[in-house]
Amino acid sequence: MSYKRILLGCALVLVLALALSGCAAPAATQAPAPTTAPEATQAPEATQAPAAATGNDKLEVFSWWTSGGEAAALDSLFATFKTLSPATEIINATVAGGGGSAARGVLQTRLAGGDPPDTWQFHPGFELLGQYVAANYVEPITDLYASEKWNDVMPKGLVDLMTKDGQIYGVLAGVHRGNGLWYNKKLVEKAGVTVGATMTPDEFLAAAAKLKAAGITPLCVGDSGIWASAQLFENTLLGVIGPEKYAGLWDGSTSFADPDVKKAMETYGKMLAYQNDDHSALSWDQAVKKLMEGGCAFSSMGDWAYGEFVNAKMKDNVDFGWVSHPGTAGSFMIVADGFGLANKAPHPEQTKNWLRAIGSKAGQEAFNPLKGSIPARTDVDRAKFGVYHNWSMDSFAKDALVPSVVHGSAAPADFQQAFNDGVTSFVVDKNVDAFSAALVAAAKASGFGK
Ligand code: GAL
Repeated sequence: MSYKRILLGCALVLVLALALSGCAAPAATQAPAPTTAPEATQAPEATQAPAAATGNDKLEVFSWWTSGGEAAALDSLFATFKTLSPATEIINATVAGGGGSAARGVLQTRLAGGDPPDTWQFHPGFELLGQYVAANYVEPITDLYASEKWNDVMPKGLVDLMTKDGQIYGVLAGVHRGNGLWYNKKLVEKAGVTVGATMTPDEFLAAAAKLKAAGITPLCVGDSGIWASAQLFENTLLGVIGPEKYAGLWDGSTSFADPDVKKAMETYGKMLAYQNDDHSALSWDQAVKKLMEGGCAFSSMGDWAYGEFVNAKMKDNVDFGWVSHPGTAGSFMIVADGFGLANKAPHPEQTKNWLRAIGSKAGQEAFNPLKGSIPARTDVDRAKFGVYHNWSMDSFAKDALVPSVVHGSAAPADFQQAFNDGVTSFVVDKNVDAFSAALVAAAKASGFGK
């Protein structure tokens, strides 16, 4: 899938979102899943010992949602699911490690070994289509789109990222904005730093210098999983080269040897000079916690960080603030979370109810305020969302929508790995030419670089 197709899809997202907001039918009776088929007659599973009467009424959900905010949001999805399948026992199979850094390997082993969970977390685009659909690990759920009328409320551009040969393979729980810069309000004010509605990379570096001079660690990074630093770079890349050139990286029309890409690498290197000394010992959420506790001022992170602030009962624009990652105002880095139906899922009917719950209006309105993402559905009640979410919804509606490589949408898995590896080396050697050359070679090897 070329990036152009994503851009095309994204244009459709915008058109669709606008069209839907203009003509949205009242969604008064969103009774969850009237189409739910009764599950009375569980067909016995040939290869398993007969389950006790209700012993096989289960659902195994696999994810990496283990931080405080993530777990609370996941629980809300379980609660919505329980309204459809009250008796089902939920097996909450999580593997800690933000961004799925550890989970995806565990999942691949299970899938390759013929032991799939019923459903698992994925990112649309290359991750879903390249790793799970191409290997025949997931079943289409196109029929659910018809029965649940999701085609009327899910942006086509996003659904396209989960579609192959006319079949749809997943439903989105929410859409994260990856390019956020979060800050501890009191700390920043104490240092006399003013954060406006937007911030350039130079403004960030000036603020960081001022904070450092005041004895405050400017930037909190938690890259015990390298993806978090890779995301700092990805955001900085977008901020320095802009959305058009960034889009061109994924179809080869922008080279990773472009002078602006190298400038982005230099800027990233300058930012790293301001990070906390203990960055490699912390996970992403521990870094956010450090920010909350006054141990550092800024953190560049997707808005799952917002879920941590909510979980800590902190208030938007009082205890913490946000701005687009330096230079990225006007862009929305899409990091969407979806679930699908495993091929040979042990509990297919329960899984379909799980997907119904995720795609329901009630499910999306419960989950997203806790998770930090905006609903994928366009018919939600905005009044149920706070200041940050409304800000992010506005950004989604009007900004350039770009895919994340760190979170699996923009490029195939081999390039994603090479991107992380390049960051791992650069953090140590700060060698721009070597970093650039590594990414040029990786993009070629992956088939999209020229
Ligand atoms: C992303 C995922 C988010 C959040 C984040 C940190 O890949 O899309 O939902 O969980 O990782 O773990």
